[in-house]
This record gives sequence, structure tokens and C-alpha cells, in this order.
Amino acid sequence: MSNSLIQKYNVPGPRYTSYPTVPFWDSSTFSSEKWKTSIKQSFSENNGELSLYIHLPYCESLCTFCGCHKRITKRHELESPYIKTLLEEWKLYLFLFETTPKVKEIHLGGGTPTFFSAENLKQLIDGIFKYAEKADDYEFSFEGHPNNTTKEHLQTLYNLGFRRVSYGVQDYNLEIQQAIHRIQPFENVKKATDLAREIGYTSISHDLIFGLPFQKMEHVVDTINKTLLLMPERIAFYSYAHVPWVKGNGQRGFDEYDIPKGDEKRTLYETGKKLLEELGYVEIGMDHFALKRDSLTMAMNEKELHRNFMGYTTQKTNMMIGLGASSISDSWYAFAQNVKNIEEYSQLVEEGIIPVFRGHVLDKEDLIIRKHILNLMCNLQTSWESSDSIFEDLPNVVTALSEFENDGLISICRGRLIVNEKGRPFVRNICMAFDMYLKKSKPENKLFSMTV
Ligand SMILES: C[S@@+](CC[C@H](N)C(=O)[O-])C[C@H]1O[C@@H](n2cnc3c(N)ncnc32)[C@H](O)[C@@H]1O
Ligand code: SF4
Repeated sequence: MSNSLIQKYNVPGPRYTSYPTVPFWDSSTFSSEKWKTSIKQSFSENNGELSLYIHLPYCESLCTFCGCHKRITKRHELESPYIKTLLEEWKLYLFLFETTPKVKEIHLGGGTPTFFSAENLKQLIDGIFKYAEKADDYEFSFEGHPNNTTKEHLQTLYNLGFRRVSYGVQDYNLEIQQAIHRIQPFENVKKATDLAREIGYTSISHDLIFGLPFQKMEHVVDTINKTLLLMPERIAFYSYAHVPWVKGNGQRGFDEYDIPKGDEKRTLYETGKKLLEELGYVEIGMDHFALKRDSLTMAMNEKELHRNFMGYTTQKTNMMIGLGASSISDSWYAFAQNVKNIEEYSQLVEEGIIPVFRGHVLDKEDLIIRKHILNLMCNLQTSWESSDSIFEDLPNVVTALSEFENDGLISICRGRLIVNEKGRPFVRNICMAFDMYLKKSKPENKLFSMTV
């Protein structure tokens, strides 16, 4: 990878889990009433099929690299009231539906879902299905912390239909683990992975990160080699997102100059990628890998990959309801985010109010650009036909793209854009060329992590 290209394109930029990205949501177009209308429309268009993201925000100990919404506590008595509130929130949505919802996907994310006891997680899932049914080809997954995922968690969730689990691993080096305040030996990850396999989970995923403080090439090599001893079906190989300005995220305990950046950081990714590919993993979209036989790889080959707030998925559902503090929902026509503070969230639900505090209703142009950005993030290509003539700024976009073309990152031919191998590290930058909000107003404050 050319160092000068990395220097040129390493700028702050969104990760495009949504378009428009959260900082550009226009809350003046949004209201709780509009959100309900949009949910009803989407529910009927999707014949009652939907995905559920459920946010379980508690963790026992703070990892100082973490950018997720979490609350650090050891008070397990908080579990039951939180589960109760989640089920009350679900009921607020059920009031909007005219038929029984069919749940296609559930993802338990966090925070740490395995902070909660297996019994409480069972109550949650049973509560969801008191007034809902499973869709035919459902997929349920959860995030487990290898240090506290027990056989009971795995067995209970398996019995409820869960077949996918992802474990946070990050890096196996002790110095790095101390810097990020997360001591987690290989034996713990192996035990949790072996247990999941024995019980019958068909897809195990490990989250690794490149660009952590003090991380060097030899650490990435060792972490990937250890990971390859366990051969998880999927691997997320995230770029460390350094966003210390986000209030309360707790990214501290190391200095800016302890973090690898630019070329040095990208080399860590390229090294990891090479090792994974040698062992038969296929790079998926931006920062994921999967074994050839995995459904994610097959979906990518068939150009059927999708991406939502939960990451890459084979499931196409245009309606995702996010339950829990800080969760984001997507009706395809609108986004909405729940309040982040757990007490405020609980209070609103108790008062019978869907606890969204901001959102965005997508207009025609948003919907078209959203499709292009999804195509690029999932399939590394997109095309624009005459039906996109609403996309008034197209000539300017094409001009912006010509620079990528000159640098050999993309090829454009008759309205079709293909990201070349050389362009893969810069997919976020290429998406930025389509982002009308970034064009209209360059953010003054720091909002996004660096693209490389
Ligand atoms: C909610 S955690 C996973 C579950 C559990 N809490 C754990 O830590 O094992 C989700 C994942 O997001 C990733 N993540 C969190 N903060 C990140 C950051 N600043 N940059 C990149 N990835 C991050 C980590 O890989 C982490 O495993
Ligand atoms: S990485 Fe996981 S366990 Fe650590 S603080 Fe973040 S959500 Fe909690």
C-alpha cells in the first residue's frame, strides 16, 4: 500500500452505519408522531417481519479503548428492572402493529449482554415472544464477554434459538491488555469458544482491533495466529476508533503518541489480512472476514450482503427496532435513537412514551444516496441509472470521484463504479464523495474517527 495515498486520504470520516450519519440527522424533520407513522408503514410493507437490536448496557469493568454506550457497575440487582423496562418498551411498539410481528433477527448487544444472568436473558426473550413469533429463517445472535460467558448462558440462549455468538477479543498481548484495562488470557477465549461449539453454535465470531495503544506488528501476528488456532467462522477486524471527545466513553490511560497511526496502522491491518487470507478467510466489505463456507461469504459472492447498525448481515430486513437505552432504530424511511441515560430511558417508558430523542426522516435524495453507500460498503460497487436523475448533484459527485479514479482506487464505466483492490482501504473516503451533508457543511467540531 502506497504511503502517500494513506497520507492523502487519512482524514476524519464516518463509518456509515447509517446515511445520513447521526451528526447530520435533521431533528426538525423528526417527531415521535412521524416516527410512529413511519414504523406502521414499514411494518405493513414488510408483512410484519422485523429485526430487533436489544441494548444491554452494563459492564463490570471499564475497558479504556471502548467507544460503546455502557454503564460500569457491579450491582446485578439492576438487571431485573432493566429487563422489565425493555419488555415495556416492546409493548409500546406492539400497540402500533395490527398483526403479530415476525422476528427475523435478534441481536443482543452492549455493553455486555453476559453481565445479565442466563435466567434474566431467558425472561427477556420469552417476554419478546409472548406477543410475537419467529420468522421462518430467523437468526439470533449475542455479544459475549469471554471472561464472563458461562455454559449456562450459552445453553439457555441456544435453547431459545440463538446460533451465533461474537466474543470481544481485541488483542492477546499483556502490555496492550493492561493499557486498555482488559485482562483476558487466550485460555478464557478458547474455553468460551469450545463451549459454544460443543453446545451447537454454528457461527462463532471474534472481534479483533488493529491500531490499539502500543500495538506492533508482532502483536497482531501473535493475536491472529492464536485466533487461527480456534478458527472462528467470522472475524471482525476493526480499526481502533479513537474518539476521546465523546462524553463519558472513558478512552484514557494512554497517550495520543502511544497509538499507531497512518501508514503504521494500516500495515497492521494488511499484515493481519494476509495471514487470514492464507488460512482461507475472505475479506467481507470493510473490516470483516469469514470462512469460505460461511453464509456471509456466500451472500457477498451473490451480491446479497446487507449492513445495518449491527454490522454486516445476510438478512434483508428493512425494519429494525432498537430497544434499550441509546439504541438506534431504522424503519428504512426514518432513523430514531433512544435517550442514552438509563434513568431517563426507564422514566419515559414508564410514562408510556416511546423513548426516542432524535431522529431523521429520509427524503428522496437521502434514500438514493443511502442505497449507493450501502452498495459500496457491502459489494464494493454501485451503479446509477436514469431513475436516479433526482440525484441532482451527480455531476459534482462524478468530478469528486475522478480523483479516486486517477489514483487507481476505483474504475468507472458507463454509470458503474467498482472499487479496485487498491481502493479497499479507502471505501469510507469513496462513500464520502456521495455524502451530500458533508458537502453542504464541513463539521467544525471533531465528530468522526480517522478513515484509515
Ligand atoms: C460491546 S463490545 C463486545 C461485547 C463485550 N462487551 C466485550 O467487550 O467482550 C463490542 C465490540 O466493539 C468493538 N469496539 C469497542 N470500542 C471500539 C473502538 N473504540 N474502536 C474499534 N472497535 C471498538 C470491540 O471489538 C468490542 O468487542
Ligand atoms: S469493550 Fe465490552 S466490556 Fe469493555 S467496556 Fe466496552 S462494552 Fe464493556
